Amino acid sequence: MKTRITELFGIQYPVIQGGMHYVGFAEMAAAVSNAGGLGIITGLTQRTPEDLANEIAKCKSMTDKPFGVNLTFLPGFAAPDYPGYIKAIVEGGVKIVETAGRSPEAYMPALKEAGIKVIHKCTSVRHSLKAERIGCDAVSVDGFECGGHPGEDDIPNMILLPRAAEELKIPFVASGGMGTASQLVAALALGADGINMGTRFIATKEAPVHENVKKALVAATELDTRLVMRPLRNTERVLSNAAVEKIVEIEREKGAATTIEDIAHLVGGVYPKVMQEGEMDAGAWSCGMVAGLIHDIPTCKELIEGIVTEAQAIITQRLSKFAAA
Ligand SMILES: Cc1cc2nc3c(=O)[nH]c(=O)nc-3n(C[C@H](O)[C@H](O)[C@H](O)COP(=O)(O)O)c2cc1C
Repeated sequence: MKTRITELFGIQYPVIQGGMHYVGFAEMAAAVSNAGGLGIITGLTQRTPEDLANEIAKCKSMTDKPFGVNLTFLPGFAAPDYPGYIKAIVEGGVKIVETAGRSPEAYMPALKEAGIKVIHKCTSVRHSLKAERIGCDAVSVDGFECGGHPGEDDIPNMILLPRAAEELKIPFVASGGMGTASQLVAALALGADGINMGTRFIATKEAPVHENVKKALVAATELDTRLVMRPLRNTERVLSNAAVEKIVEIEREKGAATTIEDIAHLVGGVYPKVMQEGEMDAGAWSCGMVAGLIHDIPTCKELIEGIVTEAQAIITQRLSKFAAA
């Protein structure tokens, strides 16, 4: 299945695995890339640029296909050593970077000089246009359904994707809520050149996370996510659990006066406990509404090939009927 995205990144299928904290290790990225998609290592899960260099080397030993690195530009006081991480990416020979969070503008010259293709993930048309303007090669348009940070505009993909198609010249992929063949077809129909999936890839055999996490995703329905940290303008969609219900309660009580200190014990340092130890109530962790569409734990190859094959069948069989005179 050829699209502008498969051409841009030199991949077989227009399916990308978005960076995910404590999920996007070499094992995850290599499994997706070996299956013909684009796997992505999560840069900041690696504590230092040296650790990232090692993770890149490990991924290279596991696949000879293209893979990328995610760099998330967080709001916050102590900025990570971004130049150090970029050096590790450049020296590691990685040619694709997924940026997210704040604008990557300050780092574009360094990335472009190294011949790196940049796909920026953002949640609005205006941020997508800014990404295009500063030289990004593609955009991941992340709708309100998404796991993680949907921004503050709350525009679902049924509106956001065709709006992006109206305005953007560079290729974009549909991100947020994606997990099935019919959604890939819909995304293509709405003007996207592929899909980016986060949550769906966690429920795969190769995802290097505790079995409890995978089982929780299969058990969850589309009703089981919550939005937290809205009063802090750092909204995150997470899977509901005891800790998350506590956050929701605190935020309801304190309203706009909620501070990060009020909930820090329920959102800080949670990822290793959930993803590695399987402590499902340890705190808030990102999860998308697509959980309602996750019913199994396939290999990445089964998942990606299943989506693409079924998508082609939907186009040639179900949809072609509607085009008949
Ligand atoms: C557990 C988890 C952790 C994530 N961590 C990050 C991250 O560190 N950086 C980032 O840019 N996006 C992160 N994301 C967002 C994904 O890359 C992707 O944009 C999102 O999951 C798409 O929505 P979906 O979950 O509905 O597929 C995370 C998502 C999940 C589910």
